[in-house]
Amino acid sequence: MADSSRTQKLDLVFQHIRHFPDFPVKGIVFKDICPILKEPKALTAVIDLFEEHVRKNHPHTELIVGLDARGFLFGPLLAQRLGIGFILVRKKGKLPGPTLSVAYTLEYATAEVEIQADAVQAGQNVLVIDDLLATGGTLHAACELLKKQKAQVLGCLVVVELKDLGGAEKLPVPVFSLLQF
Ligand code: PRP
Ligand code: ADE
Repeated sequence: MADSSRTQKLDLVFQHIRHFPDFPVKGIVFKDICPILKEPKALTAVIDLFEEHVRKNHPHTELIVGLDARGFLFGPLLAQRLGIGFILVRKKGKLPGPTLSVAYTLEYATAEVEIQADAVQAGQNVLVIDDLLATGGTLHAACELLKKQKAQVLGCLVVVELKDLGGAEKLPVPVFSLLQF
């Protein structure tokens, strides 16, 4: 993709993020990605940019792993574009059958995530996707789950990275973010 096209796409994504101060609690500026989903050109731009990154840097990716809930909005579209599978990491209690779980702390809450025990095979190359990286607790927990399954986590993908919270430094793999705040 030409640099000018990449810049245009990033601008379009940037224009479709809203900022809500003091949500869900005082002191948090919530980054709302819903406008991206309402504008097909912005959503296409997100997938185009992720696709370019994955094809260039992680051509042997076998699965996209999406995080509950907003990773589910982008992950299946990217996986389909790449012609590979998509699997889910969900909040505790939502997945049937044998599962593995990891507890973690969020910017404004605590939670536990789960994956189906047979979702990934040992040695499979996977990329983890979510809408946003804040403290890194969620992506870190997902990486731990995948490590338990002996998957090869190549990296993480997010639309928005909140740089000041230093989440990327806590993760065991590189993070690719479209926008940084
Ligand atoms: C948000 C966001 C990420 C996570 C990032 O999800 O979608 O998953 O927080 O924060 P962290 O880097 O500090 O872990 P949230 O847990 O609010 O759940 P939701 O997607 O179900 O709304
Ligand atoms: N998850 C954690 N922190 C967030 C923020 N500031 N905006 C949106 N989602 C978040």
